[in-house]
Amino acid sequence: MDSREASLSTILCSLLLFCLGCKCIASELHATQTAVLKVDASPQLARQIPDTLFGIFFEEINHAGAGGIWAELVSNRGFEAGGPHTPSNIDPWSIIGDDSSVFVATDRTSCFSRNTVALRMEVLCDNCPAGGVGIYNPGFWGMNIEDGKTYNLVMYVKSPEYVELAVSLTSSDGSQNLASVTIPVSGASNWTKLEQKLVAQGTNRTSRLQITTNKKGVVWFDQVSLMPTDTYKGHGFRTELISMMLDLKPRFLRFPGGCFVEGEWLRNAFRWRESIGPWEERPGHFGDVWHYWTDDGLGYYEFLQLSEDLGAAPIWVFNNGISHNDEVDTAAIAPFVKDVLDSLEFARGSAESTWGSVRAAMGHPEPFPVKYVAIGNEDCGKKFYRGNYLKFYNAIREAYPDIQMISNCDASSTPLDHPADLYDFHVYTDSKTLFSMKNTFDKSSRNGPKAFVSEYAVWRSDAGRGSLLASLAEAAFLTGLEKNSDIVQMASYAPLFVNNNDQTWNPDAIVFNSWQQYGTPSYWMQTLFGDSSGAMIHPITITSSYSSSLAASAITWQDSENSFLRVKIVNFGSDPVSLTISLTGLQAPVNAVGSTATVLTSSNVMDENSFSNPNKVVPVKSQLPNAAEQTQVTLAPHSFSSFDLALAQSKLVAEM
Ligand code: AHR
Repeated sequence: MDSREASLSTILCSLLLFCLGCKCIASELHATQTAVLKVDASPQLARQIPDTLFGIFFEEINHAGAGGIWAELVSNRGFEAGGPHTPSNIDPWSIIGDDSSVFVATDRTSCFSRNTVALRMEVLCDNCPAGGVGIYNPGFWGMNIEDGKTYNLVMYVKSPEYVELAVSLTSSDGSQNLASVTIPVSGASNWTKLEQKLVAQGTNRTSRLQITTNKKGVVWFDQVSLMPTDTYKGHGFRTELISMMLDLKPRFLRFPGGCFVEGEWLRNAFRWRESIGPWEERPGHFGDVWHYWTDDGLGYYEFLQLSEDLGAAPIWVFNNGISHNDEVDTAAIAPFVKDVLDSLEFARGSAESTWGSVRAAMGHPEPFPVKYVAIGNEDCGKKFYRGNYLKFYNAIREAYPDIQMISNCDASSTPLDHPADLYDFHVYTDSKTLFSMKNTFDKSSRNGPKAFVSEYAVWRSDAGRGSLLASLAEAAFLTGLEKNSDIVQMASYAPLFVNNNDQTWNPDAIVFNSWQQYGTPSYWMQTLFGDSSGAMIHPITITSSYSSSLAASAITWQDSENSFLRVKIVNFGSDPVSLTISLTGLQAPVNAVGSTATVLTSSNVMDENSFSNPNKVVPVKSQLPNAAEQTQVTLAPHSFSSFDLALAQSKLVAEM
C-alpha cells in the first residue's frame, strides 16, 4: 500500500468509526417525550366492567393437562396408548431385565370393559438378577419425587400364583432408591386392586416407578396410578400450577379446547361421556391435533371441579359434529345434540336426575353452575356449521333458557346471520398489529351479541418464547377491551400452559416441567388486569406528540380495605415518557400513602424469562410518594405500568 492509499484508508476508517459512533449515540440517547393523561372519574361517566371480563382458556395442548396440571405421575397408566390391537407399543413403559429373563406383552384381558388392554408379564428366570426383573414407568419426562412427600399407588394386578412385588421410586437409571415397598399378591384368577402409600426418602426430579419380582411366573397389570397426596384441595391438581392460575384472578374457565375439542378427525375428538366416572374405567383417547395420548384423568367432571376451585364460571366448549377434516351432516346431528344435553344434565341436573346422579356418585351432589357453552371451535366457515349450530342452539335454549351460547362466527364488523348471545373472536398476530387492534371494537355494533375474545396472543418472531414485546402489545390490546367492555364480555390469552418437553404451540403464558414453573411476560402482564373484572372504568384522554406509542385505561377498583384509581399505560416506543396523570371528578382525595407503581419492563424488548432466570421480566412494585390529583411519573421505554392511586376513602378514614 502506498502513502496515498494509506491515508485514504485512514480517512475511510475514521468516517466509518464516526458513523458507527453516531449511530450508537443516536440509539442510546432517546429524547424524553412528554404526555398528559387526563382521567375523568366522575361517577356519571363511569361504567362497570363485566364481572366476567378476564378469565382463563385451558386447552389440553402442550401436555398442559396430562403431565401438567393433572398430577398423575404415571404416563399411559392403563396401557391403552398403543391402541386396541395387541401386542401394542407400551411406551413410555419399559422393561427391567432382558429377553432371557422377562417377556412383556399387552393382551385384552382387563377387568375394565371400556379399556380392555392390560399388560402380561412373564418372568422367565429361575435365578433372577439381584433386584429382580419387571417394568418401569418414567412418567412424563421424569417424575418429581420429593423428600418426605407421600405418594398414593393404586394398581390392578392378577397373578395365578402367590408373588411378591417390589414397588419402588428410583432415579431414572434405577440406581438411587427413594421409596420401596413389597406388596404380596395372593394367587387368584381374578384381578385385585392394590393400594399402597409410598413415602419418599430423598428428592429426585426425574424419577421412575419400578415394579419388579424375583419369582418365575406370570403377572398381569392394569391401571397403575401414582398420585402425590398434596394436590390442590385433594382434587388431583398440581398445586403450584393452580396457584399461578389463581394469581390471574380468573372469572371464567374456558375448557377443554381449542382444536382439542374438534380433533383432526371426529373419532379422536374429546368426548365428555368417556371422560367421566371412575378413573380406572375411562378409555382415554389420542388427541390427534396435538399428537398425544391422554388417559382422561382430567375429564369433564374435573374441569367443572377446577372451575369451582378457581372461583371461575365454567365455559364448556363442546364438539358440534365438526372436526378439522370431517363433519356430521345436519340431517344426522340429532344424537350429538342429545349427547350435549346429557352433558348439561350431568353438570346442572339434580342428584336424582339420570346424569346428575353420575356426578353425585363422583362426589359432587350440588350442580355445577354452567351458564356458558361454546358451540364448536373455529368452525364458522365449515359446511354444516350453521345447520348444526341452530340445532344445538334451539335445543339448549329450550332446555336451559339461561345458558348463554357462543357462536364461532365473528360479529365484530358484520352482524351474524344466526342467533347468539356471544361470538368468539381469536387473534394471533405480530406485535404492531395487536397494538393497533386496541381500537378493534370501537366501531362494533352495540346491539348484537357480545364479544368473547377467547384467544389472543402475539406470536412468531415478535414473541420469541414469550417476550416483553409481545406482552406490551397484548397489554395495549387489553386496555382496548376494557374500554369496549360494554360489548366485550370476556377475554383470555392462549395457550395458557406448556410443558417444556412438548412445546407444540409457542408462545404460552406459563412454562413448566415436572418440578419448575415460570410465567412469561405475557403471564405477568395479565396479572395486572386481574382486578379489572367488575371494576368501574373511566374515560381518559392522552395529549402527546408520542400518543401513537401509548395505550392506557383507568379504572376504580377495591381490595378488601381500600379503593384505588388505577391507571395502566403501555409505552410501546423506545423513548422514555414524562407523564402527568391528571384526575378530575374524584369522589375522594388521592392519598399518597398506599399509592404504588408497578412496572413491567426490561433492558431489551425481546427479553424473556426462563427456568434459569424466571424473574428477568416480572412486575416490580414501588411506593408512589408523590401521588396526588396531579401526579408526575416517568414511563420507561418499552414498559407497561400500573399506577394505583389510593383514594382516601379507605377503611381507616371511613372509620374516623
Ligand atoms: O390456542 C391454540 C389453538 O389456536 C387453539 O386450539 C385453536 O382454537 C386456535 O387455532
